[in-house]
Amino acid sequence: MATPAAGAKLDPSLPIAMFDSGVGGLTVLHECLVSLPEEDYVYLGDTAWFPYGVKDPDDLRARIREIAELLLGGRAKLLVIACNTATSIGEETARQVAGEHGVAVVPVVEPQAEIAAAITGNGKVGVLATPNTVASAAYRHALEGQGRALEVTEVEAPDLAPFIQDGSPFDEAVVEMARTYCAPLKAAEVDTLILGCTHYPLVAPLLQRILGRDIRLVSGGHAVAAAVQRTLERRGLARPADSEGTYRFLCTGDVDSFCDLGTRFLQMPLGEVERVEISSGS
Ligand code: DGL
Repeated sequence: MATPAAGAKLDPSLPIAMFDSGVGGLTVLHECLVSLPEEDYVYLGDTAWFPYGVKDPDDLRARIREIAELLLGGRAKLLVIACNTATSIGEETARQVAGEHGVAVVPVVEPQAEIAAAITGNGKVGVLATPNTVASAAYRHALEGQGRALEVTEVEAPDLAPFIQDGSPFDEAVVEMARTYCAPLKAAEVDTLILGCTHYPLVAPLLQRILGRDIRLVSGGHAVAAAVQRTLERRGLARPADSEGTYRFLCTGDVDSFCDLGTRFLQMPLGEVERVEISSGS
């Protein structure tokens, strides 16, 4: 299909495309489905290449390029990076591809940093994220750019997203794992914690119990849905709010396990999931 010339008006009836390494981005999709039910969505879970959190950054950027090309080549009016690691490592890459298609990008890191900086009372903000996200310092930079002196404590949680993506039952071992990750955040007395991975809202009740009710958890979904709405309105691409849109799923790995886990986490039927191939990085 031909790529629209830069500056050409996109068709508002096109879907919003989003991707993640697995089911974590469904936490973002869910917020969008609730806030903007009239839109159509296409979601790609790159499960064959999960986890992004420990992949070589250059390989990850190549993978992101190919995913963005696949999603936008299939025509979409907006690209949402529903993955903190992909945003931290490959936002620029995704923007380059999207720019060639005349499409805007909504990432996850910046909107969360804005909220965290606005709501922290004591100025102590924690970030729980994958090793790649912490190493990129994307949150640190985004928080520094909020125009407020903040004390930022970043903690890598290499095993948490894989545990969630596995669909393993919650047991004492995961509680212990979460306690270990939360210990430096408690020691730093953060009053606001950025869930810096789209998988983590799926264990928010566990984290909240360990950290206590007074710690505010900031997930990406809500902020991203608001950014999606603003972007569509600014570009004249919002659909009329008088109908209910559709959603469909693509994944690069096993379709049945994506469908089972996705249905469990989204708590909505996924319908038929289509398997797609991404060659780079494999
Ligand atoms: N959902 C991805 C993120 O937001 C993380 C998991 C991974 O692939 O390591 O960072």
